[in-house]
Amino acid sequence: MMRTRTQVGIVGAGPAGLLLAHLLARRGIESVLIEIRSREYCEARQRAGVLEDGSVSLLRGAGVGDRLDRQGLEHGGIYLQFGGERHHIDFRDLTGGRTVTVYAQTEVVKDLIARRLADRGGDAIRFSVSDTEVAELDSDRPVLRYTDADGTRHEVICDAIAGCDGFHGICRPAIPAGALTVWERDYPYAWLGILADIPPSTDELIYAHHPAGFALHSLRSPTVSRLYLQVDPDERIETWSDERIWAELARRFELPGWTLQQGPVLDKSITPMRSFVSAPMRHGRLFLAGDAAHIVPPTGAKGLNLALADVAVLAPALEALLHGDGEPAASYSDSCLARVWRSTHFSWWMTTMLHRTPGADEMEQQLQLSQLRYVVSSRAAATSLAENYTGFVPLPTGPLSTGPAPTGAPPSGAPPTGAPPVQAERSQ
Ligand code: FAD
Ligand code: DHB
Repeated sequence: MMRTRTQVGIVGAGPAGLLLAHLLARRGIESVLIEIRSREYCEARQRAGVLEDGSVSLLRGAGVGDRLDRQGLEHGGIYLQFGGERHHIDFRDLTGGRTVTVYAQTEVVKDLIARRLADRGGDAIRFSVSDTEVAELDSDRPVLRYTDADGTRHEVICDAIAGCDGFHGICRPAIPAGALTVWERDYPYAWLGILADIPPSTDELIYAHHPAGFALHSLRSPTVSRLYLQVDPDERIETWSDERIWAELARRFELPGWTLQQGPVLDKSITPMRSFVSAPMRHGRLFLAGDAAHIVPPTGAKGLNLALADVAVLAPALEALLHGDGEPAASYSDSCLARVWRSTHFSWWMTTMLHRTPGADEMEQQLQLSQLRYVVSSRAAATSLAENYTGFVPLPTGPLSTGPAPTGAPPSGAPPTGAPPVQAERSQ
């Protein structure tokens, strides 16, 4: 057993763990970051694609936005398609100029891994570890244990541990039963997602309501498309040939005078859909961030943004804690949960408005169509969608998250109702 010491032990090298390690390093705080998967696996895992402008400002302010600035595609709205018509929701007009940026999670992860390795060398991230354990969470010296890729067991004595290990990780289950409250909702559908080597057939994302089920046309670059289909949760990917997928996508996006361009499928997978919030996001010296603490169905494009926002709050809170000021760490959970619940509600709202519930009666569809017609014909309703999609509860502002202010603020400039005061990052 190798025994070592660090300030912050970080479990999981997804967007949350990677950005946290980087933000802490910029504050002069040392961390050990471990990951069960290989670097190649982490860099290839197809997931999110849409960044709120607050997330873009955060990454830029943290010095990891160069490629994002060059290759990210700024989008000023989305299309909502239903009842045989396609309607544009113009975020810039509705929110006083706010936008989102299409830049794949794979690229955010690659940028953050490259930056950690450049700043700290080969041991900055310990990939392919196994048997991760966290212990002594109630003490001020929590312990992180893992076995490295060569089979050596490690014990790392920490001042704090960040559980950034996603929904299926080990950190949340390490919190004693009874110390957490959990809210959970499973949806009776899943998303079949494909990556296709074909230029997108649209300039902005299309969210389509169709009697056969929801479909989404997104993109990864001017030459690569990303598309999703609502399918049953127990559907097996083997039963979906490329031809069947394209035929179903063409049917759900059908519009006179418009053609869905089809091309080689590079990747395909099925993802279940769930809403999940556990609180508080802290137990003793263990802090949960990102999907480890909360999951949203992907329809609102919020999960990655929430993960980045959590660690933007956590980094200064941990810095303060390590310097003897426990107050920001004490308010970490409440500060994040205001944003988490807003996004949880928005994602649920988008999901239930756009998906067909298997076995639902005809009334569900009429209610959905009425809501969709309202969104595209009422400026108030469209503004509500636009300000939530672009990010309603502001991210912390400060030296590592500077950008056009107020980046995530509502268009009126008024504070979002119910949001706690946002923690400012401390200058060093
Ligand atoms: P993860 O990315 O899950 O990272 C956790 C890491 O911990 C993983 O690398 C995992 O291997 C590692 N790990 C797990 N257990 C252990 C262990 N025991 N020891 C060490 N390491 C461990 N979000 C958006 O904002 N916009 C979108 O457009 C969007 N679209 C999506 C589309 C799909 C199809 C899916 C599946 C998700 C989408 N999301 C979207 C959600 C987004 O991808 C997640 O919310 C995001 O990955 C959360 O980041 P994270 O770092 O918290 O967790
Ligand atoms: C993508 C994923 C989403 O969940 C979404 O709402 C929009 C875009 C994407 O992967 O591009």
